[in-house]
Amino acid sequence: MPRLNAKTCIVTGAGRGIGAAIARAFAREGASVLVTDKDAARAAKIAAEIGAEARRLDVASEEDWQALAEAWPQCDVVVNNAGVTGFEDSLRPHDPEHASLEDWRAVHAVNLDGTFLGCRYAIRAMRPKGAGSIINISSRSGLVGIPAAAAYASSKAAVRNHTKSVALYCAEQGLAIRCNSIHPAAVLTPMWEPMLGTGPDRAARMAAFVADTPLRRFGDPDEVAALAVMLASDEAAYMTGAELNIDGGLLAGSAAAPKTD
Ligand SMILES: NC(=O)c1ccc[n+]([C@@H]2O[C@H](COP(=O)([O-])OP(=O)(O)OC[C@H]3O[C@@H](n4cnc5c(N)ncnc54)[C@H](O)[C@@H]3O)[C@@H](O)[C@H]2O)c1
Repeated sequence: MPRLNAKTCIVTGAGRGIGAAIARAFAREGASVLVTDKDAARAAKIAAEIGAEARRLDVASEEDWQALAEAWPQCDVVVNNAGVTGFEDSLRPHDPEHASLEDWRAVHAVNLDGTFLGCRYAIRAMRPKGAGSIINISSRSGLVGIPAAAAYASSKAAVRNHTKSVALYCAEQGLAIRCNSIHPAAVLTPMWEPMLGTGPDRAARMAAFVADTPLRRFGDPDEVAALAVMLASDEAAYMTGAELNIDGGLLAGSAAAPKTD
């Protein structure tokens, strides 16, 4: 029996990367999937591949969420996956001393406001059945400080915390609407391209990025999607307000830990 049989699932930022892997995995498990992305062409491509519906949705736009609520007033699973690092179009500094207020706000508008709007939509769309699963894609960066990407880290920490507020709110309301966060680190998707570059030092850069990762490799988007399937399914009926790390062991220890003989 497919694990997401008869479930209606909406995934944001599903035109590529982790979101696309989640949409594919949900479809394999029997779900009706709505593939959404700010980039309509990307969403349409993935939807066509898996026999799903596509829709343009900018998660930072309240109007887009309102229009979605009118078209899709009910659903069972929402994955708030869309996110930006702020380095997509430029490599301007994002450290606490030099980041501009404009760049800081732009990252929070997508990662945090987008997740807030997605959770609000989801609670309303799941209330008629009184049950559902909200999955927020935070990050390892939501659990530790990242000096060179302070806005990203701040936004992902806020996503982690908002997940718990949503989980407790739904429980207080007597709803079986669960809300959990996933915290990936170094998952090889197009998000990394501006940081990896295409030059001869690409392989060295890749190795450097995972040098402190105990498993010494990047994660695969399908490995994150497997967790999302579990959280979306009824197997996770007793899980809410939880945070799941998927990071090759990075947060299990400290790179500064003393070596013992
Ligand atoms: N890849 C990693 O190593 C990693 C690690 C930790 C967390 N994450 C998180 O996982 C999520 C997916 O990351 P990814 O690596 O697949 O990224 P990606 O850049 O490969 O894909 C992101 C998708 O989101 C879409 N998008 C961007 N802004 C949007 C908006 N305003 N509204 C709707 N869609 C929008 C893009 O068009 C793109 O298709 C993000 O929230 C990211 O922060 C990724």
